Amino acid sequence: MSTLAEHVREQARACAALGSPFYGALLELVADDVAARGPLAGVLAGFTDAPGPAAVALRLAGTAHHLALEGRAPTLTAHFPSTGGDGDPAGAFTALRELALEHPALLTSGLDRAPQTNEPGRSAALLGGLLHVAGTLPVRLWEVGASAGLNLLADRFAYAGEDGRTWGGDSPVRLDPAWDHLPAGLPVDLDVVERVAGDLAPIDPVAEPARLEAYVWPDQPERLARLRGALDLARSIPVRRVRASAAALLEGLELAEGALTVVWHSVMWQYLTRSEQGRVTARLEHLGASAREDRPFAHVAFEPRRPEPGAPHRFLVVARRWPGGHERVLGEAPPHGLPVRWATA
Ligand SMILES: C[S@@+](CC[C@H](N)C(=O)[O-])C[C@H]1O[C@@H](n2cnc3c(N)ncnc32)[C@H](O)[C@@H]1O
Repeated sequence: MSTLAEHVREQARACAALGSPFYGALLELVADDVAARGPLAGVLAGFTDAPGPAAVALRLAGTAHHLALEGRAPTLTAHFPSTGGDGDPAGAFTALRELALEHPALLTSGLDRAPQTNEPGRSAALLGGLLHVAGTLPVRLWEVGASAGLNLLADRFAYAGEDGRTWGGDSPVRLDPAWDHLPAGLPVDLDVVERVAGDLAPIDPVAEPARLEAYVWPDQPERLARLRGALDLARSIPVRRVRASAAALLEGLELAEGALTVVWHSVMWQYLTRSEQGRVTARLEHLGASAREDRPFAHVAFEPRRPEPGAPHRFLVVARRWPGGHERVLGEAPPHGLPVRWATA
């Protein structure tokens, strides 16, 4: 069996184990086709050097999903569960193989694009973390590694705790359960006066919604529903999107009197070089040092951390507020951000 077929098969097993039986079965069939030097081997041939041994399989799956969502390949649309199709992986495979034979350019045109997601479920961690340090001033919200900036709409989502208590009003995005409980005494609303999304490769959610949907696995209806709800909100809530590395974005940020300036981020820290991590940390410290009670500053992060060397990663909600800047580990959540288990009562 070729190495490429092995890579596709590894990804098939990972998808099956991580909650996508549809991709698990579809990619097993793709792996068989590649091993037999079928038409999909030809389509993937030029892309085996894509970063990450399995990345090429996810690129193919994401490209097929994108075509299905946009109705550009009706035979795929008929089988993808996210497009009202019958969810039959064998049917989807037959359609994919036919596309590879008849319109290979439709598939190869998407393969040079790295999968990129934006997970609104992480707002449970980010917004919940912010509520712990927010206070009463208006909030300026800046996000680094924001992708499409959908988590900057977090104050417009609805949250329900496992204890039955809720936060937020009616919303097309309902995170339920967002957390185990919400500690007493936190603000019941937030006045967000500025939203800035920085990313090396920002996605415009209004112009390219299907690009974001394409990388959600098609048989994960809850993730798709919250993404689609956030895409809906994005049409009416202005967010300033900036193509900038995390360090470059923060160089342009200063604190403002009469507002709490917040920098937050989720699941992006591992993509920064050591040197950029150092620059971002230094800039956060600098902003913290310039904070006063009438122009406070906060940093909220939802990122994987090893509690000690060699231990498995845990996704922790961590926050600091200046003046002061004492770090608080507030809670922990699964990688998609919910439900959060708060450390505080
Ligand atoms: C896994 S995604 C997470 C996106 C979003 N924070 C979320 O949780 O849904 C990581 C994001 O980090 C961005 N990224 C990677 N390196 C970056 C850098 N040096 N500066 C800014 N953004 C970066 C990527 O383009 C991508 O959008």
